[in-house]
Amino acid sequence: MEMDKLVALCKRRGFLFQSSEIYGGLNGFWDYGPLGVELKRNIKDAWWRDMVSGHDELAPPPGAPESYEMTGLDCTIIMHPQVWKCSGHYDLFHDTMVDCRESKKRYRIDQMRGRWVAVKLPGGESGLAAEKAAEVERLGRLFIVSDAESPEAAVEDTVTRACQVLGIRKKKAEDSFTWESTAVVGIDAKVDRSRVLAPHATWFGTLTEPREFNLMFSTQVGAAASDDARAFLRPETAQGIFVNFKNVLDSTRVRIPFGIAQIGKSFRNEITPRNFTFRSREFEQMEIEFFCHPDSSFQWYQYWRDRRMKWYTDLGLAGARLRLREHHADELSHYSTGTADIEYAFPFLPEGDFGELEGIAHRGDFDLRSHMEGKLDPKTRPLQLEMGPDGKPRHRGSGKDLSYLDQLTNKRYIPHVIEPSAGADRATLAFLCEAYCEDQAPDDGGQMQTRVVMRFHPRIAPIKAAILPLVKKDGMPEMAQELYRTLKRHCNVFYDEKQSIGKRYRRQDEAGTPFCVTIDGQSLQDGTVTLRDRDTLKQWRLKADEALTEIRQRVQ
Ligand code: GAP
Repeated sequence: MEMDKLVALCKRRGFLFQSSEIYGGLNGFWDYGPLGVELKRNIKDAWWRDMVSGHDELAPPPGAPESYEMTGLDCTIIMHPQVWKCSGHYDLFHDTMVDCRESKKRYRIDQMRGRWVAVKLPGGESGLAAEKAAEVERLGRLFIVSDAESPEAAVEDTVTRACQVLGIRKKKAEDSFTWESTAVVGIDAKVDRSRVLAPHATWFGTLTEPREFNLMFSTQVGAAASDDARAFLRPETAQGIFVNFKNVLDSTRVRIPFGIAQIGKSFRNEITPRNFTFRSREFEQMEIEFFCHPDSSFQWYQYWRDRRMKWYTDLGLAGARLRLREHHADELSHYSTGTADIEYAFPFLPEGDFGELEGIAHRGDFDLRSHMEGKLDPKTRPLQLEMGPDGKPRHRGSGKDLSYLDQLTNKRYIPHVIEPSAGADRATLAFLCEAYCEDQAPDDGGQMQTRVVMRFHPRIAPIKAAILPLVKKDGMPEMAQELYRTLKRHCNVFYDEKQSIGKRYRRQDEAGTPFCVTIDGQSLQDGTVTLRDRDTLKQWRLKADEALTEIRQRVQ
């Protein structure tokens, strides 16, 4: 599937719009349109139902070491600044970036990809002014950076840009320089920046020195503009759960093992937001912090990893584009005995590449301990606080006891945490990519035509059924509206009487509506309607008052 087609459909049919579009848009921010909001809401509802309210419908959950409880939370976006100091985000949540003085664009150094070239300008042919030609001769080796998405496009782009900047015709490229790397390669912070041609620059050496850039958005709380009033928009929902661990224990009857779930907005000032909604600056997360005894934590990790993978496959990401990737031991944090990513081969990525949908991490007791005692130094763990220059612990924790007393054994311990952390927007994007399909279907005259159809799993489809009178007369609209009003009380249905029936079917196919209910002349005589299946295109008659039961059964 070509990504451009999906992006166009999302705009045309109201799944996704660029934020503040009438003012030129704001990079990294997206709005969900009328269909998009229903799709994303259905995904979040499915997650909440399957992970929280209905998690034990098939008790005990298959694969779980024992039965468990789940509960929910909804925490604030702005929290006490100390939360971020103890979580590590204040000190460690940053990317290394460089600015381009010419284009004023900012780049993550780890994302700068290009090719090294050794230049030998042919005398008099380059068309460069003498001092520029001398500078190129002096530099000799140059690094041409591209921001093209695919490696093949980037290779082509580097040739074009090298020729442009050196004033050489493309045909002469081979006489004028030799590529040191045939493929695009990364650049590290140590490379002499005077040799680098940035993606939107017209000459070399426009990049600044690399510097650390914290990804948290900051704001002021209250009227004072002092440092004390500085606060942050949360970069993850997880910390709200950790700091409420004791509140949940004290206010409910949950006992370990149990999980706390939260769905909510998170904010990251990403340096290079890209790939549609994949890397946004404002996005929604669906996170679970699952608290368990250290002895069974590895089994719980395996349980959640498999359960979360199954959730995506059950909702339709069943093919080879979805994979579960266990991190290698050397990728793991010091406190973790396991981390896995659920990844999807998004069509905007180079062939063979996968993008993260969700991470499932074994976090040990790191988070609860950090909020008790202060941020721990990974190397000197356990129980050694990181000291500031004044010899005092740098980031003190809350000082509150966040341990757990097991009433059966009367033993106290700090629970271990398994964290399945998913992005609602990335899941929505993956379901959109997976659903997009072009096939052949008959038009009003029975001729086969190419149609665009979004094959969403019925559970997440924005509209479950469209109610369509065959023509706008003879009592058909009245009967259709009555059915519409009945069905509307139970699920999201859509009434449409404009245009030919074929065109209305196409519109519903593009919206991903799994069923169309058509009311025709026979309906008025015998009370039956036609049900049309979006994917098989099969149509069959049934009593109008059986339509609701039939649709509900098929939507589950
Ligand atoms: N509490 C752990 C945590 O936040 P993460 O891997 O940084 O871990 C979890 O984020 C998930 O949130 C990712 O797998 C992804 O689905 C989503 N996510 C992270 N950054 C995002 C961004 N800039 N835009 C959209 N989704 C993002």
